[in-house]
Amino acid sequence: MPARPPILAIVGATGTVGREMLDILASRDYPAGAVRLFASKRSAGSTIAYCDESITVNELTAGALEGVDIALFSAGSEVSRRFAPPAAASGVVVIDNSSAFRMEPEVPLVIPEVNGGILERGDGTGGCIIANPNCSTIILLMALTPIQRAFGIKRIIVSTYQAASGAGAAAMRELSDQSADVLAGRDARPVVFHEPCAFNVFSHNTKVDPATGRNVEEQKMIEETRKIWRDEQVAISTTCIRVPVLRAHAESINVELHRAASEARFRAALTDFPGLTIVDDRGSNDFPTSLKAAGGDDVLVGRIRPDASLPREDRGGETAHFGFDLFAAGDQLRKGAALNAIQIMDLVRQRVTSAV
Ligand SMILES: NC(=O)c1ccc[n+]([C@@H]2O[C@H](COP(=O)([O-])OP(=O)(O)OC[C@H]3O[C@@H](n4cnc5c(N)ncnc54)[C@H](OP(=O)(O)O)[C@@H]3O)[C@@H](O)[C@H]2O)c1
Repeated sequence: MPARPPILAIVGATGTVGREMLDILASRDYPAGAVRLFASKRSAGSTIAYCDESITVNELTAGALEGVDIALFSAGSEVSRRFAPPAAASGVVVIDNSSAFRMEPEVPLVIPEVNGGILERGDGTGGCIIANPNCSTIILLMALTPIQRAFGIKRIIVSTYQAASGAGAAAMRELSDQSADVLAGRDARPVVFHEPCAFNVFSHNTKVDPATGRNVEEQKMIEETRKIWRDEQVAISTTCIRVPVLRAHAESINVELHRAASEARFRAALTDFPGLTIVDDRGSNDFPTSLKAAGGDDVLVGRIRPDASLPREDRGGETAHFGFDLFAAGDQLRKGAALNAIQIMDLVRQRVTSAV
């Protein structure tokens, strides 16, 4: 990898995540000359405004990533499966937002604040695939990793409130159009989702396993958490739900700890974790919301309270609890996808700089 700004490819540049990546890169003045945009044949030849320039979108074809140093893929699993391995074999560092390679044992699954250290291994040269975790997993582990480090986590029960944008640009349009239709007295016509998404709350749109009853999103959260934390013992129960929100997922989280904590110590553990902001004012009922998280980089946590249904211990005047409840919200297009991928890119670049 060269010392100059790496030649970057955004694969899926016309999509919701791809455009968010471009926003983040533009905010950092990443040079337009080092950014190449790819999408499907449908978008080939269109242009996207970037800083003061306009970049042409190319069709992703075999060999199109030649000369690229780092490729940020966000075009779905099928595209990743087809184009990421040959790109990595030819020397490109692929940072993949799809679920295609997340559970491959040799592919690092990275949230920089949580397990970025695993990228320090290796000499920093040569192509590879690094996977970005599922957006709901990222928000969950941003909220819980400081707790896991301080007290150990035995069991997690999490319910998600997931925005339409998690299913891409077409889903965002569906929510906006349906909302206008319903308000105008017309029927909601679901196309992307299996249920009307305007003014509705429904089970996540991924396939349900007939044997376990869990949908794919719920299963991903369980498997990815165990891989990232390297903890096969942590018990996790997940319920994933779509809500009529344009962007930013929220999650209601209950944890059972290995080592009991007072509420003060539990809160203190969350303070100062990078990328996490506590929004928790009981007096004014000020807690995380999807809107407060939307467009921001940090995951917000609040509604922090002991779970009175689990045992507690009296430690000389201080009550220590084995269970806590909290509520988190995070912009899944940013920290759940685009920002996390760019933070991984930063780690890769640091690794190269320090190896030189
Ligand atoms: N949305 C989220 O919150 C989120 C969070 C984490 C991970 N992800 C993952 O990120 C990926 C993209 O999600 P998204 O929400 O950005 O979806 P999206 O808005 O539907 O965008 C899909 C992108 O993929 C491109 N694409 C489709 N088929 C292609 C092909 N054959 N060759 C090249 N490009 C192709 C599309 O290009 P055209 O415009 O030409 O069709 C578009 O740029 C998915 O794998 C998703 O699971 C999404």
